[in-house]
Amino acid sequence: MLNAARAMSRFYVTTPIYYVNDVPHLGNAYSTIVADALRRYHLLRGDATRMLTGTDEHGLKVEREAQERGMTPSAFVEQMSATFRAAWPKLEIGADDFIRTTEARHELGAQAIWEEIARRNPGDIYLGSYEDWYCVGCEEFKTEKDLVQPGNLCAIHRRPVERLKEDTYFFRLSRYTEPLLALYRQRPELIQPESRRNEVISFVSTGLRDLSISRTKLTWGIPVPGDPKHVMYVWFDALANYWTALQGSEAAKAFWGEGSRVVHVVGKDILRFHAVYWPAVLMSAGLRLPSTVYAHGFLTFNGHKMSKSLRNSVDPLGIAQAFGQIVGGDAGGADVLRYQLLRAIAFGQDGDFDLAAMVERYNADLGKNLGNLLARTLGLCVKMTAARVPPAGEATALEHELYAAIEGHWREAALAWDRIEPHRALERVWAIASAANQYVDRAAPWAEDKKGHRGRVETILNTLLSVLGALSVAIWPVLPAKSDEMRRQLGLAPVRPEEGKDWFAPGVGTRTGGEALAPGTPLFPTVDEAGTKALLELLTPRVDGAPAPATGPASSTSASTSASPTVSTSTSTIAYEQFGLVDLRVGVVRTAERVPKKDKLLKLAVDVGEATPRTIVAGLALSFAPEALVGRRVVVVANLAPREFGKGLVSRGMLLATGPSDKLTLATVEGDVEPGAKLT
Ligand code: MSP
Repeated sequence: MLNAARAMSRFYVTTPIYYVNDVPHLGNAYSTIVADALRRYHLLRGDATRMLTGTDEHGLKVEREAQERGMTPSAFVEQMSATFRAAWPKLEIGADDFIRTTEARHELGAQAIWEEIARRNPGDIYLGSYEDWYCVGCEEFKTEKDLVQPGNLCAIHRRPVERLKEDTYFFRLSRYTEPLLALYRQRPELIQPESRRNEVISFVSTGLRDLSISRTKLTWGIPVPGDPKHVMYVWFDALANYWTALQGSEAAKAFWGEGSRVVHVVGKDILRFHAVYWPAVLMSAGLRLPSTVYAHGFLTFNGHKMSKSLRNSVDPLGIAQAFGQIVGGDAGGADVLRYQLLRAIAFGQDGDFDLAAMVERYNADLGKNLGNLLARTLGLCVKMTAARVPPAGEATALEHELYAAIEGHWREAALAWDRIEPHRALERVWAIASAANQYVDRAAPWAEDKKGHRGRVETILNTLLSVLGALSVAIWPVLPAKSDEMRRQLGLAPVRPEEGKDWFAPGVGTRTGGEALAPGTPLFPTVDEAGTKALLELLTPRVDGAPAPATGPASSTSASTSASPTVSTSTSTIAYEQFGLVDLRVGVVRTAERVPKKDKLLKLAVDVGEATPRTIVAGLALSFAPEALVGRRVVVVANLAPREFGKGLVSRGMLLATGPSDKLTLATVEGDVEPGAKLT
């Protein structure tokens, strides 16, 4: 069906490595899903393909977060990195490598780059001292013009910057102003999309300042070669990951070699690091440059700003899981999330991730278009060909027209993937499904059947099954689990490009006849109004941005978690003074453990700003693993009379929460509020 006149090549795609100061959110998932879809597309093309993701574990932000949770940085990063590693497969992401910046292979690699710069260009790294405003959220020095007044706030994180002064090694970035501008001119495909490229060019055109690349006030970092008082600036260390991760073997090294297409997928917030600092560092070290740095836009969630530092994040696994309940299995839910992110948002632009729009698009594109095409074709085959693939007869103008349309769409889909435009690629793939749906209507196999035109019936159904076979390949980069299921129903083995087969060969999907089909339940069952409502209630973030639990009876455990989920049932009012009697404080959970022989209870040590943390016993054990609570900010009723839970176990406070006892959501506060702060 497609003529793939394209030499096999190497393709290396990377995601940003994520800070481990919080769990993965929808924004991180977006970058990672895009990279995985590109990986899968290139596998289909028969390219030698490699995808890298990982975690960025050094720096002040991580060190402080660990401190706040009462943990050593290494124990903290170990735990958080594992959360990221475990999350991605649940979204059908199959990275080939996962790098942690605390691994020896990375530390050695980053030091090797440093040394190579010093060796090749001795003046490029020099010792000096530095004083300026620093934002821990960005892990970046700021100039006055980057700040928002009043209050000297970082424009991105809206919290005060700090004054930092220290001895530091500098990288002579100023020397690379002209070489970078020349590079951007010669290699227009380096920075994409074009609007972002223009921003970078205008930034560099104003002249670059040398970059501070070491810290002495911090120990949580990679030691500077030859001067271990200093650790590397976290961004110098982090950017190196794309190269260090490949140094383990010759096969891996080839992905940074000539003839390999190296694509860094990044958010627009970190484009400057990737399009200015990283190429300059590579030039200085005499290493090849990436082929493309693609900066995608920022997502809002249901119209609200969403970012890790602002603690208003959204859980992609929760969304996939909730959708999975509807579409049959977590993997199916992940597919739907992947489709929505890649189809609804024009890659490169900002976009809103809207849950209601997701359901709408699911019903329309996935259910009514693709799902329906599969269901009606298989239904016709059950009736007319005993659920077997019929032989292909002679094609008429109708078939020729369909194939011509598909060929065009397919070619454009491939081009869009090559240009890193997933939304356009999907648009083309779905145009194939629409064309096939129109074809069924026009070819009307049921009418041909009535007329006894057996040959026509067979040709039409064979054509449809062949197109569906091709579609099951075309959707694989974005909907891998649904592709497997679709192929199962079509009597086909799953797409397995690693077997070395060329999945984009002409005629992919073509059926020869005779094979058994296995019609099953609808691929994308319709979500009706009630289902939509339930889903939206389940997923709409409240208080801390975590998904709210499904509506259900309020928890009525004997422990301290029985806040009512609704306010509308309240009939009486209380005086201001009465409310004033309740002492509500911000607490941070320091430790959490199960209470022996009590299934529902957890014993917590909660820091409410006093000399020692308080013991609070709460009925949280059915909803949270103890370790998941450590470090969480909670709202504590601090002046409740102590309550005994037997054998010297006394609870001195209560946490606010909502939901049924096995799906509780804890009340919390946004931002880095100190433990003990009073809620008024
Ligand atoms: N550790 C650095 C990256 C180092 S790469 C050498 C970092 N980490 S991060 O955890 O803050 O993740 C940043 C990435 O997450 C962004 O670049 C972007 O890819 C993604 N997103 C974070 N919030 C996002 C949105 N609201 N929308 C879309 N993507 C977002 O920066």
